[in-house]
Amino acid sequence: MRVCVIGTGYVGLVTGVCLAHIGHHVICVDNNEEKVKLMKSGQSPIYEPGLSELMQSSSQSGRLEFTSDLAAGVNHGEILFIAVGTPPLPTGESDTRYVEAVARGIGAHLDSSSYKVIVNKSTVPIGSGDWVRMIVLDGVAERLKTLVTAGGSSEPSKDMVANFDVVSNPEFLREGSAVYDTFNPDRIVLGSNNQKAIAMMKELYAPLVERKFAQDQSLPPVPVVVTDLSSAEMIKYAANAFLATKISFINEVANICDRVGADVTQVAKGIGLDSRIGDKFLQAGIGWGGSCFPKDVSALIHTADDYGYEAQLLKSAVEVNDRQRVIAIEKLQQELKILKGKTVGLLGLTFKPDTDDMRDAPALNLIEQLNRLGARVKAYDPIVSQSGLSHGLSGVIIETNPEMLADGCDALVLVTDWQEFLKLDYSKMAQRMLNPVMIDGRNFLDRATVEKAGFRFVGIGR
Ligand SMILES: NC(=O)c1ccc[n+]([C@@H]2O[C@H](COP(=O)([O-])OP(=O)(O)OC[C@H]3O[C@@H](n4cnc5c(N)ncnc54)[C@H](O)[C@@H]3O)[C@@H](O)[C@H]2O)c1
Repeated sequence: MRVCVIGTGYVGLVTGVCLAHIGHHVICVDNNEEKVKLMKSGQSPIYEPGLSELMQSSSQSGRLEFTSDLAAGVNHGEILFIAVGTPPLPTGESDTRYVEAVARGIGAHLDSSSYKVIVNKSTVPIGSGDWVRMIVLDGVAERLKTLVTAGGSSEPSKDMVANFDVVSNPEFLREGSAVYDTFNPDRIVLGSNNQKAIAMMKELYAPLVERKFAQDQSLPPVPVVVTDLSSAEMIKYAANAFLATKISFINEVANICDRVGADVTQVAKGIGLDSRIGDKFLQAGIGWGGSCFPKDVSALIHTADDYGYEAQLLKSAVEVNDRQRVIAIEKLQQELKILKGKTVGLLGLTFKPDTDDMRDAPALNLIEQLNRLGARVKAYDPIVSQSGLSHGLSGVIIETNPEMLADGCDALVLVTDWQEFLKLDYSKMAQRMLNPVMIDGRNFLDRATVEKAGFRFVGIGR
């Protein structure tokens, strides 16, 4: 099928590349010329395991193209994905201006000769499906007005060119395993009341539903949830709100464990074996961050407020998380007492491993708080340190290897659970420190190994 993906960030680029890989002809559109230039040269603007390889092979096969020309993308696609960002506003609402700009732009280039499905892949507030339809129609009307002014003929009805439907198709990929998740989804959600649009979406996803590109092709087909627009939009928010709440729950349990002398890792194991609970998202640590959980939970709270309901549980999940994100500071104060004049090294900066994404990463809070308390902050991150992505970071010295990070530090805080941190030479690192203290903010390291290397080890809730 002919596909256009508008917005080539973590979601749009992965979607475009994977759809091209399974056999569709995809044009990816982005209004960032620099990014388009980079992608045309075969390079991925983001780090995501496996993405560059697939991007190059699909580009070479001629099934994947990049452009900044929205008109070309809209003309090409039978299915048009909107995958631009919806960052949070200071009020907690989603900023939908990028979605609006794209919807208006699509309208300005639509013609009635071919039916198109416009897909909301961006996470958008509930009710956005109908809103996008309205904005697309506004875009159509604006173009018609221009045509009439230029041609002088009587104004045609905008419905004459409104040969499209809107589908909500929320994305559940995880950064760091986005390609894997696209080929091995738990489910595909399609929200629309229009049968033709749903049929086209099912055809698009058929190779994924039949698991033709899955790691385990013997599994039964991927469940497809077909529902109305608002329910599909709500599914995305409810999924993220649930996962964020689950993490806040185990973090709260960890804080109680700390006080009563229990070990949260044992507690998580014990409750996670209960099939009603499950063992995922039960790792206590320094809180959730990233580009999705914080903004999606806030947006859902905001939507509830708009409709006269106070989402108390979700507000508490956020409050627990806000406290948790600086719990490493409390632990450092317990160990070092005064932080002024001390040097603290952060192992990891990104909000999770295998990504270069720093959006709303807990490391940013730590850097800010440590600076405020007069500590010097250094950091080593496998991606950020190597890729020169540290430009936007202030108040932190970026080191190029773990040993240089350890040099002269009064304590280390493990912030991101990168696999390579399991294999560091902690003895060498301990020797280079003024005071070998390790705060394991992800309960990730083997306590015995780190203690044997000479560290005083402090976990979360253990
Ligand atoms: N990142 C994730 O893990 C994830 C997972 C699921 C859902 N989502 C949702 O998907 C959406 C996209 O997220 P993301 O992380 O990929 O965003 P992103 O910020 O990484 O990428 C957005 C892209 O859109 C481009 N863009 C903005 N305005 C444009 C326009 N008018 N025309 C063309 N391109 C334009 C930007 O240049 C950028 O490349 C968001 O709504 C997000 O909540 C993200």
